[in-house]
Amino acid sequence: MEVSEGLFWCCAVCTLATASYQWMWEQKKGWLAGFWAAALLALQGQLYMWGFHGFFGVLAMCCAHYFILERNDFLSMCGKPVLITGCDTGFGHALAKELSGRGVWVFAGVLDRNGSGAQELMKLGSRRIKVLQLDVTDPDQVAQAHRDICDAQVGEAGLWGLVNNAGILGCVVDAEIQPLANFRRCMEVNFLSVVNLCQVFLPLLRRSKGRIVNVTSLGGEVPIPFFSAYGASKAALGCFSRVLRLELADWGVKVVVVQPAGFKTSIFKGCEDSKQEIVKNLPSAIYKEYGDAYICSLQDCLAKVSQQSPEDLQPVVNDMCHALLSASPKPLYTPGQMARLLPFLYHLCPTAVSDKLLTSHKFVDCKPAGLRPKVASNCLLVSASRPLCMNWTTPMLDEGGNSLKSHNRPAAKQPAQHG
Ligand SMILES: NC(=O)c1ccc[n+]([C@@H]2O[C@H](COP(=O)([O-])OP(=O)(O)OC[C@H]3O[C@@H](n4cnc5c(N)ncnc54)[C@H](OP(=O)(O)O)[C@@H]3O)[C@@H](O)[C@H]2O)c1
Repeated sequence: MEVSEGLFWCCAVCTLATASYQWMWEQKKGWLAGFWAAALLALQGQLYMWGFHGFFGVLAMCCAHYFILERNDFLSMCGKPVLITGCDTGFGHALAKELSGRGVWVFAGVLDRNGSGAQELMKLGSRRIKVLQLDVTDPDQVAQAHRDICDAQVGEAGLWGLVNNAGILGCVVDAEIQPLANFRRCMEVNFLSVVNLCQVFLPLLRRSKGRIVNVTSLGGEVPIPFFSAYGASKAALGCFSRVLRLELADWGVKVVVVQPAGFKTSIFKGCEDSKQEIVKNLPSAIYKEYGDAYICSLQDCLAKVSQQSPEDLQPVVNDMCHALLSASPKPLYTPGQMARLLPFLYHLCPTAVSDKLLTSHKFVDCKPAGLRPKVASNCLLVSASRPLCMNWTTPMLDEGGNSLKSHNRPAAKQPAQHG
């Protein structure tokens, strides 16, 4: 009885250990690596039962593990060309540096070739980085980049990777008052330009049986209030990427999605002065419903998101590298806090629960004028307890929550730039 109980617990612990180990590797390297990891662990258990236990058994397994999983997982990338868009700042900039350091031949597309990000890449002096002027929405610049890459003797071997990283966030505000132009701009930069780039570069990618890495967002997977334009464009990109992955499988081209959560980059920079754009074409009745104070407070929301986001971009860069260099890339990478858990809960929970989950975290303390009780509809009361709002005008409001007087407003804080 004692023996069988011991055996039971032994089996239970081994199963749990194998499952956790498999899961860990699946998260890190993909299901194939997870399978091999679990098989190795099981073999180790078997060896133990055959009597090969102790230090040498473990050492042998560690060596096998290293050679099978670590060594063979990454392809030799020396001289293989990769095009990355949006390398001026953020993830793209960091990835360009990382890949060139690993011996990859990088074509770094930048929005502004004279900008500081592009200049920094050029100053690295690496013969493996070629900076290309590439506004992804400009067909002429895309065609020119294609010619430049073909001229660089890529022709025969083809292009190994295309990383569609360039993106914008645009205005962050309720969908009702979100300027239509912002929806168009987000779609243009975040979605349609990627479709165009894939079509233009696929003949080169097919030659090498290479990779397309599309950067979507957590905001495209779960509905995040105020991010309707950005989220819709990233959701479109996610769907496009999943279809493309199935269609290109027979051609040997792998399509990978990197879907990060929030990271502190200069993506938040462009939205700080969006108030003018929001109010420009807004009918006065709707403007009154939302109120000046509320619209101003949305800018605090962005500063708050940016401040709460991690500064270290390495998790995203590591996942992008794995997507490009691994023999068995995962179809989806989810770097960042909650990037995997939030979609999981969102799809699993009943709507009433997931709605609460997504609206429980309040980035904006101030409510639209039309939703505030008439007597207490004064953001002065709220802003006194809001350190983030201290940068801004303390609004003097009428009963509808609209601004009566404008004080001097100090310049908005710029989020830190990375790379
Ligand atoms: N940071 C996050 O929290 C986060 C989360 C999920 C997904 N993402 C996605 O990750 C990608 C990279 O963003 P990031 O966070 O690294 O932000 P970022 O620092 O602003 O990088 C985006 C880059 O794209 C460039 N760009 C903008 N419009 C372009 C155009 N028309 N053509 C070519 N390049 C253009 C930007 O240039 P300028 O700097 O000159 O504007 C910038 O260098 C984006 O697709 C973004 O949606 C970011």
